Amino acid sequence: MYKITGNTIYYGRQYIDKADCEAVRDVLLSDLITTGPKAAELEQRLCSLTGARYAVAISNGTTALHAVCHAIGITAGDEVIITPMTFAASANCVLYCGGTPVFADIESDTYNISPKAVEKLITKHTRAVIAVDFTGQACKYDELNYICRRYNLVLIDDAAHSIGTKYNDKSIGNVADITTFSFHPVKTVTGGEGGAILTNNEGFYNKMKLFRSHSITRDPALMEYPTDDPYYYEQIDLGYNYRLTDFQSALIISQLDKLEMFAKRRREIVQQYNEAFSLLPQIIIQREIPQSDTVRHLYVIQLNYQMLQCTRREFFDALKEDGIFCNVHYIPVYYHPHYRKLGYKKGLCPVAEKVYEGFLTLPLYYSLTDDDVKRVIKSVKQAVIKYSKD
Ligand SMILES: Cc1ncc(COP(=O)(O)O)c(C=O)c1O
Repeated sequence: MYKITGNTIYYGRQYIDKADCEAVRDVLLSDLITTGPKAAELEQRLCSLTGARYAVAISNGTTALHAVCHAIGITAGDEVIITPMTFAASANCVLYCGGTPVFADIESDTYNISPKAVEKLITKHTRAVIAVDFTGQACKYDELNYICRRYNLVLIDDAAHSIGTKYNDKSIGNVADITTFSFHPVKTVTGGEGGAILTNNEGFYNKMKLFRSHSITRDPALMEYPTDDPYYYEQIDLGYNYRLTDFQSALIISQLDKLEMFAKRRREIVQQYNEAFSLLPQIIIQREIPQSDTVRHLYVIQLNYQMLQCTRREFFDALKEDGIFCNVHYIPVYYHPHYRKLGYKKGLCPVAEKVYEGFLTLPLYYSLTDDDVKRVIKSVKQAVIKYSKD
């Protein structure tokens, strides 16, 4: 067991202020607490933030991805190309619909999905590509959109990490056919739990909105057997209860009021880390592409084992001894036993597998102070000195 002390610095944490608490309290004391006016306001707010035409507030980032795969009609026999360097939910959504995730390797420096690798994997069964803006940095959307238009595929941006990021001056949320957000507590903006889907496609939007609430409608125009009865409704497809409550929506709206402030502080911390670690050849930092104006969710370093004589666990433990609790993002998805049972094997994506071996996620969150950042940098430097090869 790890010792958790008062001055432990974790890799991520939420920031909740008085305005957030008041926003939640106001909804709790109102008449409507599940999906209602605040969810609708959040949807409007996300459309204004991103420039996307339609938004669906939904219970979390995982259900957002499930709704997307349902809306685009993924079914048995369909293939969806996806990065392995992500949280399992990005690929599980394809399995939920009976489809087959096909893992495309990542770029060795940005760690995002490689458009070239995507193109090589396209078959007559491919229906969609799921790109993940790993750590908050936008993928190469010019290339991905070009490929998806050419082969008639749907481009999905799993933007769980990248709210606030821009690609070529366009907001994430409006650079792919469909985008999903997560509002989990370690994300830049949180609702405790929560998610959202953005699109400009009205057909997808209508399907996702129904799917969020059992695919039940009270709209006579959508019914098979419409009546005048005011209590009558119909379930016209298979759906789920993936609703977001209005008090979570209120919290997310209140957090969005602070997005600029969150983004500024995250950028400052990233700059301090980059300045310190770019001087250490034992540490490899993530390359930023100029097209991405990134709001970084995670700060991931790669241990350069050519210059370090230690395991990741030893390096992790050295920081832990100093009260700095790191994490690792991500175990390649197809390493998980569930995927192995489905027949996926190690060796599929050699770049992702190699960089994963050296990955370590350092603390990054709004309320990290300059002293905290200095402590992290000092601890990394000490570990580097301790483990450097002669
Ligand atoms: C890349 C990515 N996709 C999807 C998800 C799932 O989001 P949620 O936890 O809101 O279900 C996460 C959450 O950690 C994530 O990091």
